[in-house]
Amino acid sequence: MNNPSSGHPFPDGFLWGASSAAHQIEGNNVNSDWWHREHEADSTLPEPSGDACDSYHRWREDMDLLAELGFTDYRFSIEWARIEPAPGHFSKAEIAHYRRMVEGALDRGLRPMVTLHHFTVPRWFAERGGWTAEGAIDLFERYVRATAPVIGTGVRHVRTINEPNMIALAVAFRELGTEVAPIAGIPLLDRPTTDALIRAHHRARAAVKSISADIQVGWSIANQVYQALPGAEAVTAAYSHPREDVFIEAARGDDWIGVQSYTRTRIGADGPLPAPDGAERTLTGWEYYPQALGHALRHTAGIVGDVPLIVTENGIATDDDTRRVDYTTGALQEVSAALEDGLDVRGYLHWSALDNYEWGSYKPTFGLIAVDPDTFERTPRPSAAWLGGLARTRVLPRITS
Ligand code: FCB
Repeated sequence: MNNPSSGHPFPDGFLWGASSAAHQIEGNNVNSDWWHREHEADSTLPEPSGDACDSYHRWREDMDLLAELGFTDYRFSIEWARIEPAPGHFSKAEIAHYRRMVEGALDRGLRPMVTLHHFTVPRWFAERGGWTAEGAIDLFERYVRATAPVIGTGVRHVRTINEPNMIALAVAFRELGTEVAPIAGIPLLDRPTTDALIRAHHRARAAVKSISADIQVGWSIANQVYQALPGAEAVTAAYSHPREDVFIEAARGDDWIGVQSYTRTRIGADGPLPAPDGAERTLTGWEYYPQALGHALRHTAGIVGDVPLIVTENGIATDDDTRRVDYTTGALQEVSAALEDGLDVRGYLHWSALDNYEWGSYKPTFGLIAVDPDTFERTPRPSAAWLGGLARTRVLPRITS
């Protein structure tokens, strides 16, 4: 039932959460391809992940804080490189570690949303050729099946792969010999990787269902919010399809789809355009544009039809927490408007729970909770209390200005 006092109908059972990813918060993920990349002599990454937030040891503290703040859901990922450090060698201790995390979340009243793969793979998997190498999908499926003791009971939502379109983009960047996304537009994704990831998702979905038919399986797409300038509708559709829509189409048989949105990309007759002159930019250089989430939800729903939507990432890199509250208010108003229009949005999980390793740098601070890099002390920001409070009241104040 909708909350009558709010005017913003966040339904009962709506997921109010915060998100994280293992490599970005655990620290010392030494068997992963990313760790290796961070430490190559000619690495172009500004800094390595190191100890990250030490959440490998401090996950209880993280979950205590999120539960105390009022959140009902916590999205975290489990690390393939730890679970299978060598091909076919599955670590019982690491599986037990992640099971403790699932139970720890449940004990605190947090529903765990478990991601099986968030950007990093074991180093051995990358070295044998990654997603397009022979047998790669069988190996992924074998890993997914090995996670049964972690996800088999008590886990309602499982995500197979985080942002497959960004994984295929990373391959395209490697082929182009660059690592940095231009502000306007992105190159064409690697097609063999795209196809392999879609097959991997479908195989993983079936594997998870065979572990427990009760688990709701999905994957999350990076929504770039391609906005057509007048007259550029066909150009925009052609631009978006291989970069995003093909992955959304692959979710048609899923239990839900994750929407992950931060900013927009405007498309003119000749292709992508930079942000408008004078636009506010966040610490990642992205245009401050909370309305992006509404567009992302509608775009996704237009492709998947009646597959339920969950916002699995949305947030802002800023050193001014008032901008975080402002941005998130704007984004939640978009969610609310989408619900009013009948879209089946089941939850909002903010990126990110903690300031963390943003794939090369600690500088873009996305966290609801600040983390001291030396002592690992956690300090919830006012935005964390504000968003956790919304999870309790489901009342989103209307902004009148
Ligand atoms: C997404 C990633 C996540 C984080 C945010 C800012 O693309 O899934 O790990 O880096 O962007």
